[in-house]
Amino acid sequence: MSSSQTKRPLQSLKSRALNGDIRVPGDKSISHRSLMFGGLAIGETKITGLLEGEDVLATADAMRKLGATVIRDDQGTWHVTGVGVGALREPDSVIDMGNAGTGMRLMAGIVATHPITTFFTGDASLCKRPMGRVADPLAEFGAQFITRDRGRPPMAVIGTDEAKPVTYTLPMASAQVKSAVLLAGLNTAGTTTVIEPIPSRDHTERMLRHFGVVVDVSINDDGGRTVSLTGPVQMTAADIVVPTDPSSAAFPLVAALINPESHVTIRDVCLNPLRTGLITTLIEMGGDITITNEREEAGETIGDLVVTGKSRLTGIVVSAERAPSMIDEYPVLAVAAAYAQGETRMCGLEELRVKESDRLAAVAAGLAANGVVHRIEGDDLIVTGGDVPGGGMVETHLDHRIAMSFLVLGLGANDPVAVDDASPITTSFPSFESLMRELGANFAPAGS
Ligand code: S3P
Repeated sequence: MSSSQTKRPLQSLKSRALNGDIRVPGDKSISHRSLMFGGLAIGETKITGLLEGEDVLATADAMRKLGATVIRDDQGTWHVTGVGVGALREPDSVIDMGNAGTGMRLMAGIVATHPITTFFTGDASLCKRPMGRVADPLAEFGAQFITRDRGRPPMAVIGTDEAKPVTYTLPMASAQVKSAVLLAGLNTAGTTTVIEPIPSRDHTERMLRHFGVVVDVSINDDGGRTVSLTGPVQMTAADIVVPTDPSSAAFPLVAALINPESHVTIRDVCLNPLRTGLITTLIEMGGDITITNEREEAGETIGDLVVTGKSRLTGIVVSAERAPSMIDEYPVLAVAAAYAQGETRMCGLEELRVKESDRLAAVAAGLAANGVVHRIEGDDLIVTGGDVPGGGMVETHLDHRIAMSFLVLGLGANDPVAVDDASPITTSFPSFESLMRELGANFAPAGS
């Protein structure tokens, strides 16, 4: 895992126009869920296109420890034979979720309503992240939690075999919390309901249906959603083709937009409408992005993105309501904003403070180190675009997206932009450097 590796400083340098046709790795959210749901289903689930990043491999390991059979064949297809909802085995050792908040929070939901005790830990970044947001609603089912430092991992979950169904209104827009509650509901007699004031990514709802679970979703008067399911359920194995990750596509997408004359095609990207906030925003900023070859696969919309670095982007106001549909993309949007004409105001970014790092602080520090004019007002980040001086060293704080975002910043900056540690990139996008180099990006080792 990244935490135990030595730091690997890397820098990016001003590059020529980016050109090419690429396919980024599988979607991280869908990859985690496919292993978890396959492990809960009866029968064998075949998964193709799985993201083989450290976060997802940690989930594969967790499901094995809980009794599922998880095998990768020579062609790269994953075969998961599940144990059935209610039949998970108590792990005989601590489960290490590495850097993965999604992994730990969703797994907590699954084990909370099984009569087993599970110990979870993670890397230095994950052990700083709040688990109270899942422990609180899961305790309402009857599970017990032991955490350290106000809800931080390591964390023990003492599951219950007498789970009571819960109706929970999310206090924050979070697909992870929504999913943890719904997954606890799978092995709970009665109807579990989650009310979300602002819709968040719905991969859990879509994929549960794919595995034969009835999930009711209704739109509330305020635009939020009410999601419910009635347990205990039985899940039936169902093959999954994982589309590629829009949160990874975001890096070549922005890189192409800020490098004039670029022309890049990114294939088979998941275009779930609750994940496309960055694409909408970049188009509003004047970005030349076309979606082609749009189609449906395994309950998700997929398409190819064709992006051309024609004209300069223009700063806009990005509303807080859009945040859940692009929550992981703000670091790279800040990079796009650094090259845009005028001010870009990104509103309502409080959730960024509890990601793999405090991303609001990490982005601000990275912009400051590279001479980009910006300010934070409350939970808003305001970036004034223009010529980017570069020349700074950015601290990544074990955060893959901070590392990749600032490497993209350097591709158009006057002086190289360095990150102190590129090793966390393997958590979500192991082929980042090779794919970006294939497009024409100029990366080089940096002094620490
Ligand atoms: C995820 C939800 C988001 C996102 C994370 C993946 C998911 O987190 O940031 O990378 O797969 O459900 P929150 O639900 O905490 O916003």
